[in-house]
Amino acid sequence: MARFASSFLFFYSCVVESEIVLPSFAKINWRLRVLGKRDDGFHELSTIFQTVSLADSLGFSDSDELSLETDSPTVPADGSNLVIRAARLLQEEFGVGRGARITLSKRIPAPGGLGGGSSNAAVALLGLSVLWGLEPDFPTLCRLAARLGSDVPFFLYGGTALGSGRGTEIETLPEASEKFILIAAPDIAVPTAAAFAALGAKRLTKTDPESILKLCRCDAAGFLRRPRELRNDLETTVNRLFPEIGRVRERLLEAGAAAVLLCGSGASVFGLFDKKETRQATLEALGSETDWRLFAVATVSRDEYRSALGPCRRLFPISF
Ligand code: C5P
Repeated sequence: MARFASSFLFFYSCVVESEIVLPSFAKINWRLRVLGKRDDGFHELSTIFQTVSLADSLGFSDSDELSLETDSPTVPADGSNLVIRAARLLQEEFGVGRGARITLSKRIPAPGGLGGGSSNAAVALLGLSVLWGLEPDFPTLCRLAARLGSDVPFFLYGGTALGSGRGTEIETLPEASEKFILIAAPDIAVPTAAAFAALGAKRLTKTDPESILKLCRCDAAGFLRRPRELRNDLETTVNRLFPEIGRVRERLLEAGAAAVLLCGSGASVFGLFDKKETRQATLEALGSETDWRLFAVATVSRDEYRSALGPCRRLFPISF
């Protein structure tokens, strides 16, 4: 049987006996366009991010030492984990002498193209700022987040947002709303760097930031007019490298998904459904796929995202 879980929209942060517990949401990309290869080796992107109601949980409490415990055998708990790297960046930036005991309960497949590690890093920046009584301004948080990874700054915003540059330049967009999404995560680890490399993208021809931004905003306007016109430039390459991922796509379409797309660099794939019943029937039909994890989710808006991160709300700007 495939393992499946329903993820509900309401995730709460809480403070219990001085432990701050925060949800760390996953993302999908409605669109991911690779514009070309940059001189720094990264790719210039025009992408539209969306937070969804699948979440890990992170707990932060006071300690002299910095430590991380996780319930996931696939996630390292040492200094290579983005959560520890986020903690060290904050310590350096603000001269913090204290440590923290951090616990991470994983539900987001890792790796899976759902931004789990990036989300954890952003939530660590937020949670530890509160735990340590820091007052970072929002641009400082965004700068630290971009040092941790291309997807990390988005998780300081949540909701629906345009990502440009490496993916680190974020502009909020009017919210997209889909209630019946199904994410299928086959047991495949797609190395992000290898997926980008296999794409064989040409060097960026336009390097003027203004004209690139114009193009990205034009993509975003197209998305707002036709939100179900999905696009991921990595998909064909990743499906060629891992044919099983193409099979996930086909099975979701056969089962009645209105639109299907690879999540980031994969291996997860999401399908959009018009009705809860069709999604439920698909969950049951895919139950025979022993190596796929299935998650019934919905979009999480920016307001819902910020509410769920309750104790950190003071770190967000009043409006973006
Ligand atoms: O930024 P992050 O560490 O998440 O990126 C992982 C890898 O994905 C990078 O080392 C790079 O090879 C590739 N990447 C890229 N262009 C981007 C984002 C990621 O080539 N915009």
